[in-house]
Amino acid sequence: MKYIIANWKMSIDDAKIDKFLNTLKTQVSSKNVVCGVATPFVYINKVLPTLSQYHWLVGAQNVSFAESGAYTGEISAKMLREQGVNFCIVGHSERRVMFGETDEIVNTKIQRLLEQNLTPLLCIGETLEQHEQNKTNLVLKKQLQSDLADIKYVDKLIIAYEPVWAIGTGKSASTKDIQQNILFIKQTLGKMYGDKSQDITVLYGGSVNPKNAQSIFLLNCVDGALVGGASLDCQKFLDIVHSMQ
Ligand code: 13P
Repeated sequence: MKYIIANWKMSIDDAKIDKFLNTLKTQVSSKNVVCGVATPFVYINKVLPTLSQYHWLVGAQNVSFAESGAYTGEISAKMLREQGVNFCIVGHSERRVMFGETDEIVNTKIQRLLEQNLTPLLCIGETLEQHEQNKTNLVLKKQLQSDLADIKYVDKLIIAYEPVWAIGTGKSASTKDIQQNILFIKQTLGKMYGDKSQDITVLYGGSVNPKNAQSIFLLNCVDGALVGGASLDCQKFLDIVHSMQ
């Protein structure tokens, strides 16, 4: 199955969500693609009725590494499940860089999500410096091995390959780089989990838009996309979804 997931980050508000949902209601959604939206926590209940009516997944953008207790300001995996969330982004480069999230924290968050039967959407990717120094494979392998350490195979897992230098820059990675790196990710997962790993979905993220989506989706190894900026406008997001077919 192919997935196209919106990551609204902190770039959305009530009015923009109303507009998004109203546009969605006028459209026929695609049968071949699973769509989803990772929304800020406070809008989960606002988007859930409409998104679930269209069989879209509802996701969160973060989760606590702790199960429960005195963690002021944190949201637990159990709370997300109770609100009807299906998946949660972990390891996004914005959280790794700006909020100091280590691979160890990412690994704990994945465990918390799996305990609640929620799908972790794990983001990995190299910085520009690592890219220029040809260290991409090393970085991807280390992130996969550390972030998934002691995590038994789960068909629920979704990986997003998001080169840090392609996020929010309007400069997507080349189709050659995307193909090479996603194949490397799949090979590495194969070594970790054997044949079963073929069922793990691997998305591409980084400046995906309605113009470049089709050429990215033509790559066989790409199972979909994680879309930031272009997902704030429902029509643009649906144009990306439709270029999948
Ligand atoms: P952009 O699509 O805005 O580059 O963001 C990608 C991203 O970070 C999705 O998680």
